[in-house]
Amino acid sequence: MVKDLKEAAAAVRENAHAPYSGFKVGAAIRAASGTVYVGCNVENVAYPEGTCAEAGAIAAMVAAGETALTEAYVIAGSPMPVTPCGGCRQKLAEFGVGDVPVTMATTGGVEEFTTLGDLLPGAFGAAHMES
Ligand code: THU
Repeated sequence: MVKDLKEAAAAVRENAHAPYSGFKVGAAIRAASGTVYVGCNVENVAYPEGTCAEAGAIAAMVAAGETALTEAYVIAGSPMPVTPCGGCRQKLAEFGVGDVPVTMATTGGVEEFTTLGDLLPGAFGAAHMES
């Protein structure tokens, strides 16, 4: 089921702009429609302006008019599967429920499986802002 996500994430990773860290990341998310959106990290010489792969994929999904994701896949050339950073966990949680599956992978073929809920337990959400 995640094979298309894996291929999409691995392919977009090649386009990552990561001249400062040398660490290329690719992300693919499946939206509620079934369409797959991809993103890669885009670094900047002003380091804090760089963006993560997950953020790019989310931006592509929202730009296409979708606001619900059902599955995510993240891949990097790391020694162990790359876990989404804290900020990306919150970004993903904005558009996915807790049981959304997230696959974390290395380019070497190692995969680990988790969920949005396990990545961000106790997530701050819209319910906290209800009056
Ligand atoms: N990075 C991502 O794109 N996603 C993650 O989940 C972890 C980190 C990027 C940000 C930066 O360009 C590089 O990896 C090193 O931190």
